[in-house]
Amino acid sequence: MSGIRVGICIATLLLALGTSCARQDVVVADFERNGYDGWTRQGEAFGNAPAAGAVGDQQPVAGFAGGGLANSFHGGDDACGELISPFFALERDYVNFLLGGGRGEGVYIALEVDGKQVYKTRPVVDSETLQWYSWDAQPYYGKQAQIRIVDNQRGGWGHILVDQIEQGDKSKSVIVPDYKQSFNITKKYLLIPIEDKGPESQVVLYRGTEKLCETMHIRVAQTKVDYWMPMDVEAYKGMELTMWFQHVKSTDIGYRQICQSDTYEFDYDEPYRPAYHFSPHYGWTNDPNGMVYHNGVYHLFYQHNPYGSMWANMHWGHAVSKDLLHWEHWGDALAPDSLGCVFSGSAVVDEQNTAGFGKGAIIALFTSAGKRQVQSLAYSTDGGRTFAKYDGNPVLTDPDIADFRDPKVFWHKESRKWVMALATSQTITFYGSADLKSWDKLSEFGDGIGAHGGVWECPDLFPLQTPAGETKWVLLVSVNPGGPNGGSATQYFIGDFNGTSFTADALTYPLWIDYGRDNYAGVTWNNAPGGRRVFIGWMSNWDYANQVPTVNFRNAMTLPRDLSLRHNGQHWVVASSPVGECKDLRGQVVAYDTRQICARGDSIGTLLPGNTDCFELEMTVVLTDATKFGFGFVNGKGESIAYAFDKLAGTMVFDRTKAGLFGFSDKFVTQTKAPIAPHDEYHIRLFKDKASVELFVNGGEVTMTNIIFPTDTFSSLVFSSPDADHWMVKGLKVYPLGE
Ligand code: FRU
Repeated sequence: MSGIRVGICIATLLLALGTSCARQDVVVADFERNGYDGWTRQGEAFGNAPAAGAVGDQQPVAGFAGGGLANSFHGGDDACGELISPFFALERDYVNFLLGGGRGEGVYIALEVDGKQVYKTRPVVDSETLQWYSWDAQPYYGKQAQIRIVDNQRGGWGHILVDQIEQGDKSKSVIVPDYKQSFNITKKYLLIPIEDKGPESQVVLYRGTEKLCETMHIRVAQTKVDYWMPMDVEAYKGMELTMWFQHVKSTDIGYRQICQSDTYEFDYDEPYRPAYHFSPHYGWTNDPNGMVYHNGVYHLFYQHNPYGSMWANMHWGHAVSKDLLHWEHWGDALAPDSLGCVFSGSAVVDEQNTAGFGKGAIIALFTSAGKRQVQSLAYSTDGGRTFAKYDGNPVLTDPDIADFRDPKVFWHKESRKWVMALATSQTITFYGSADLKSWDKLSEFGDGIGAHGGVWECPDLFPLQTPAGETKWVLLVSVNPGGPNGGSATQYFIGDFNGTSFTADALTYPLWIDYGRDNYAGVTWNNAPGGRRVFIGWMSNWDYANQVPTVNFRNAMTLPRDLSLRHNGQHWVVASSPVGECKDLRGQVVAYDTRQICARGDSIGTLLPGNTDCFELEMTVVLTDATKFGFGFVNGKGESIAYAFDKLAGTMVFDRTKAGLFGFSDKFVTQTKAPIAPHDEYHIRLFKDKASVELFVNGGEVTMTNIIFPTDTFSSLVFSSPDADHWMVKGLKVYPLGE
């Protein structure tokens, strides 16, 4: 026998011996459907026998082995109960089991040895998907043990799921609870790899034992890296920071890749980054917040997640502008604290130092959203560069209202006090204050009037003048869902405010500030110069905002708009016109002669030289003998957007069903419809950016804002004549819009 052969034989023998030595797993309970054999059952929660999956109206249950599991959802979350195993001998190195359900204190599985509890485990996240957990049984080898599965918890996630309890010589758990990773900070950022649709990890940053932030919810990559997010740690250079994870899985790929860097590079100009609309430098945005004009500068704060492009960790991002179109990013102004995340709110300039933080201080009032929603105050005495939270927070609470948020505060000069409009579930409640710190209820508005298809949010109350100089008060109220075309939208009321209560004029409500799908939570600037009333909205919809196909950022704001009162021939409307500053974005105009549109329709192959994606189009449609007209845009990929007007029906419909990408959400493909008062001429201004189109008809009497994700440039304009009658396009001008 050659040496090599001897070697192979010995190896084979060792392998065979090794295999024969590997001990079989011992099943303690597999909870197949043959009853809880031998286990003692107390209470109702576990039912009479193992479940086949979800029970009643429970979400789908996954990750269990075979056809059954112990599920304490019988009788819902409120039911309680306990399962106690028969005694068994510990005869392998580990006890492995599948575990899911709620992570509250009252639900757990425990191992008792000699009558003493040696392990007590609960799921690390609320989840209906079971995962492996393991107990090291080596210290208790040979002893008699018993397992208790306990559900003592009522309310949300008050249930536990357990399956496949077995003894084996290998640990099956990949969960590492309480995981810590330290960094000696030498650079500006910690770069965190994010998996956009992955589960959130709970993360806290410590310096020694000092907690530097509230728990952050970050989708640290588990299976793939979609993008990186920078966490600014420059202030801690030269120090050791520890990142604490509530748990990681040893199979996750992301946490090990977190690294330091002085730069943060990413594709800022990704395809759907707007050219002239406000968008966050990176991360998620929803509502505009705290808009205030101060010392020649427009401040725009916004709901911001700096740690990912999905909604979470609400901060107030902050940007400033002199012209409402070019924004300088100032970094986050407010971060979550022990009262909760920083939800929407407003800011004022305290000219008379009513709050005592200094004359001209910028004072922000916002919702702290923790276990409850309460109103808090922060102030800046350096022109908005930095904010300090008031140490007497919260300044307004109500133990009875869960949806209690989005304070919009303004100075009511007639009654010489601060007034706050606050969304209180299905109404707006007004409060008054002399010092911005203590607030008294004035009145409540909204019962039985307007749209109530969802929760009321983000109110704003302000005066506007009619052309004859009469003052009317306008109340904006966002509602989600319940918009005219689905999902979230902003309604308004026109009426009077006497310093205490708002009374709406008798109009046919709801009236909507915008009939597109993508203008939500908009409010107006406080203190804007020249008495102008400038509005900006969030250009998205809660129906799909978390799914839209962008990467390093998600969502943008509408164009800023000057609001005015206009009569549409039937009643007063709050009209929106793009702010005059938009004209400064215009490049070289391309003007077209008057066109007669006949039954066949008409088109312009290349609307603008240079194939730009971003333009403004202006035209006047004259209905010669037609009552219907339509126009739209097409691109080389056969994608299109189209508007159809019908004078007799009094409607305008926008169609984005063929506008490009839509598979990210089944709620996105839609037509949007607006009522429009009949006219013989329609003046149209349309603003197209990379991923949006905003239409203003007749000085903003009707406005429609919609986001779109075309895969090619809309370069051709098409006119159609649906009722085969003639109409005319006058004064057609197209302007490329620059940055
Ligand atoms: C509106 C809203 C507000 C809340 C904020 C949270 O879109 O739900 O009511 O303050 O978003 O981000």
